[in-house]
Amino acid sequence: MASGSGSNFEAVAIACREGQLAAEVALLVVNNVGCGASQRAGRLGIPCQLHDHRGFSSREALDQALIASFRTAEVDLVVMAGWMRIVTPALIGAFPGRLVNIHPSLLPSFRGMDAVGQALAAGVTLTGCTAHLVSEEVDAGQILVQAAVPVLEGDDHASLSARIHSQEHRILPLAVDLAARRLGLLQG
Ligand code: GRF
Repeated sequence: MASGSGSNFEAVAIACREGQLAAEVALLVVNNVGCGASQRAGRLGIPCQLHDHRGFSSREALDQALIASFRTAEVDLVVMAGWMRIVTPALIGAFPGRLVNIHPSLLPSFRGMDAVGQALAAGVTLTGCTAHLVSEEVDAGQILVQAAVPVLEGDDHASLSARIHSQEHRILPLAVDLAARRLGLLQG
């Protein structure tokens, strides 16, 4: 699931392709037509479906459409790789322990929107990223993997975001691997 540039989606897809993650990305779903993530899927040869939230009457209706797509594609595990919508208990309940999110802070610090901006405003010298299971409380589910990232003198939103992004790309495949192993989807 992706809404924007899709660099985390691509990191997971490449980890699968290179054998670092014993999995296959069966499907990408996006909610923004023509977003970077959908373009990456095209380049990678991964099926991509558009579920534009603007065409649904409620969050629940969108999530029901997502569930139907995932069931049809027979997915075992769902990754929110920059999905900029709040998900409902319907989606969470359909994939218990199987819904992974990536967030650009060291949770439980800086939950919610613009975590990078929140970190800069707070003046912390260390922030990072967290891959976690999704629970009904936003950005509060069980933590799978975290990486710490220093905030350097003179950092702005763009420079700090870029440093965090490169760590997200490292930890998200690890978190998917860990979640899959816990579910017994991967052995060895
Ligand atoms: C990432 O920073 C992720 O933590 C947040 O959304 C961003 C997605 O970036 N949830 P990208 O689309 O994967 O490049």
